[in-house]
Amino acid sequence: MLIKTPEKIIKIRKAGHLLAGIFDKILPIIKIGMTTVEIDKMFDDEIRSVGANPSCIGFFEYPTATCISVNDQVTHGIPDNYVLKNGDIVDFDVVLDIDGAFADMSYTLKIGEVSDIANKLVEVSKECLYKGIEQVKPGNTLNHIGMAIEKCSKNNGFSVVREYVGHFIGDSIHEEPEVLNYYAKGNDLVLKEGMIFCIEPMINEGNWRVITKDWDVRTSDHKLSSRFEHMVLVTKDGCEILTPLKFNK
Ligand code: MF3
Ligand code: CO
Repeated sequence: MLIKTPEKIIKIRKAGHLLAGIFDKILPIIKIGMTTVEIDKMFDDEIRSVGANPSCIGFFEYPTATCISVNDQVTHGIPDNYVLKNGDIVDFDVVLDIDGAFADMSYTLKIGEVSDIANKLVEVSKECLYKGIEQVKPGNTLNHIGMAIEKCSKNNGFSVVREYVGHFIGDSIHEEPEVLNYYAKGNDLVLKEGMIFCIEPMINEGNWRVITKDWDVRTSDHKLSSRFEHMVLVTKDGCEILTPLKFNK
């Protein structure tokens, strides 16, 4: 269903606020020397302790609660014994569900002192997300979102990943249609009050091409990639971010 019922919106909002609260608790304590699997366990424990389910587990047989993608990894990184080091940029992408309502968000963290280019990429990818969100209002189309993101990325000399995109969400993780981060002919679904979707632009330092081997997705040139994701609701005259985060670093 493209338009959610008021009852469902309340549940999805609750799921989104819970998820953002978990990010606000965990992001500030992530440090150099932690392994990604340790951080995955923190998210997994926190999700279960609020009575929610880590929805990524079992989604197309994905093994863990979180996707943690480091440096040239674009998305779907499986947590392992990798030790975070000074200068890394690390995307934490997490989905939970509670009472039949799903929420999905991601945040790219700069670990210690990062290079100027890494810093710029992370900041621009965050800006791209907010430029996309600015376009969310009844009467605009999905293309307004994609065009704003593409423009922001291009103006800063970066590229937009094409194979992986945002999505509608709520009753499951991925619902149709896709939410592209670039202009595409015919991508002109008109936004209406009550729609809920995730915008998640993956922005590359180099070219947009990626290499996918099972869950492992990396930039083809091994340059950096960064992504931020929010879940948004189309309201009467704009939008509401359903995954509101206080953390901003
Ligand atoms: N935000 C990610 C996406 O929409 C969540 C991935 S869930 C996983 O693709 F299970 F595939 F890991
Ligand atoms: Co998503």
